[in-house]
Amino acid sequence: MKLLIDDANINLIKELYDYYPLDGVTTNPSILAKSGRAPYEVLTEIRAFIGEEADLHVQAISRKAEDMIEEAKVIVERLGKNTFVKIPAISEGFKAMKALAAQGVKVTATAIYTPMQGYLAAKCGASYAAPYVNRIDNMGYDGIQVAKDIHDIFLKNGFQTSLLAASFKNSQQVLELCKYGVGAATVGLDVIKAFVNNPAITSAVEAFITDFEKLAGTGNTMLNI
Ligand code: G3P
Repeated sequence: MKLLIDDANINLIKELYDYYPLDGVTTNPSILAKSGRAPYEVLTEIRAFIGEEADLHVQAISRKAEDMIEEAKVIVERLGKNTFVKIPAISEGFKAMKALAAQGVKVTATAIYTPMQGYLAAKCGASYAAPYVNRIDNMGYDGIQVAKDIHDIFLKNGFQTSLLAASFKNSQQVLELCKYGVGAATVGLDVIKAFVNNPAITSAVEAFITDFEKLAGTGNTMLNI
């Protein structure tokens, strides 16, 4: 399962990349608005930092398919080959997805709340489909189950489309989909930090260091004894 950061704060992205094995960055218009910066300025910085091989997901804003298509081409032109253009899984979006996929533009179908949207996105040739796990939960449905159903639809129908699960509120939700073998998950700061935020882990590591220092002296490691 690929692991991406769902944020456009370049300092945060740099910090998380320093510590964790990450595959790219996802953004949406709300995330860009939160950054408070000119969209292409911040996206160009993110692309320069993560490198041209990493995945960068950027959403088209237009309402009509023809405009989404033109917008998508400009997004890829400005941000490089491994840029996935996020297109909402609505009627105009499906029309745009078909045309873009036929022209070799990588598409991530977004704003997915139902398995049927996932199925249609895959039929249109989207590379990824992004169900919003936590938002689905908040509507009174089971976000994890919707994500699993979409993953199953892709496998059972032989679609090349992968799941890019989004909108998580905790690390357990991510783990559940990791165990299920989905293609990718994109997470925010709180969730990624919660992956190993466990007192038992911290205290086990501290006990090893304390025991070693009793043997070899405080502050010593295998480097300098
Ligand atoms: O881009 C979709 C996803 O990031 C939404 O997440 O946390 O706003 O529900 P959230």
